[in-house]
Amino acid sequence: MEADSLTSTKKYAADISSIREAQLRINSYAHKTPVLSSETLNSFCGRKLYFKCECFQKGGAFKFRGACNAILSLDDSQAAKGVVTHSSGNHAAALSLAAKIRGIPAYVVMPKNAPKCKVENVRRYGGQIIWSEAAIESREETATKVLQETGAVMIHPYNDGRIISGQGTISLELLEQVLEIDTIIVPVSGGGLISGVAIAAKSLKPSIRILAAEPKGADDAAQSKAAGEIVKLPETKTIADGLRAFLGEFTWPVVRDLVDDIIVVEDGEIVEAMRHCYEILKVAVEPSGAIGLAAVLSDSFRNNPAWKDSEHIGIIVSGGNLDLGILWDSLCKAEL
Ligand SMILES: Cc1ncc(COP(=O)(O)O)c(C=O)c1O
Repeated sequence: MEADSLTSTKKYAADISSIREAQLRINSYAHKTPVLSSETLNSFCGRKLYFKCECFQKGGAFKFRGACNAILSLDDSQAAKGVVTHSSGNHAAALSLAAKIRGIPAYVVMPKNAPKCKVENVRRYGGQIIWSEAAIESREETATKVLQETGAVMIHPYNDGRIISGQGTISLELLEQVLEIDTIIVPVSGGGLISGVAIAAKSLKPSIRILAAEPKGADDAAQSKAAGEIVKLPETKTIADGLRAFLGEFTWPVVRDLVDDIIVVEDGEIVEAMRHCYEILKVAVEPSGAIGLAAVLSDSFRNNPAWKDSEHIGIIVSGGNLDLGILWDSLCKAEL
């Protein structure tokens, strides 16, 4: 039975029906991603961990789900002029790919400091890049200008019901793949991912616990929860380049009401978790994708009241797009 009172009362920009519709819409385009487990990683924390590997999603991140749902929701006259977005990477590539599938142009505003592999992904999928400064204001201004010039439709990376609904399809799959899950740990930035995951998961299983994982250098969501209103930071500093955005008006109410707590971790813990993913799980993750494991292994989680009752933990490994150039260079230079 689904918990209508919790999540389906049109309180939020998405609900279980819009998430189910998204699943039908994107089913034949998106991958059903695998759930991996590792006895070694389980033994590190004495819990059963289930890694939902969105790094194996098309475009290398969960973002394809929302982008594909948004683009396939457009009617032909809306779609004809194409779509516009601003993104430091994964949403940009996902939107470019979804636009290519629909046969329409994608105009992508990217900050000059976006990681090289994410820029290459956008190019690979045929997105047209327009550069902006790194600050969110510059990205938004540039996107508005492109919007005016092209007449294309704006598809925001997270503050959009179609995007939230697409991301929510992860929970539909995960809770079918692993019935025992009692807790899901989700990276949070703008909050589109966690909003979709939380709405769907709490609709299907009201007792489930949703925890966010956030880097210390961009902990606006944790600060927002503490303040009871959206907090934006003057600057952010973290290795997790996908986690530097702030909550929006559609994602904040979901984070406020349905996210049980936020585990904040240091960048060092993220790097350590990445190493475990590569060495033990054998999965290529980016920092934003490894933060869930970092949170599970952190002291902050062990000291959190949720720790005691979290036995079967779903971890959303949200993406795997990382520049491996430095690692490759060091391997080439290594004396064997
Ligand atoms: C790999 C990865 N994980 C997590 C997130 C956070 O998603 P959201 O902005 O929907 O919270 C992003 C956002 O770009 C991302 O690229």
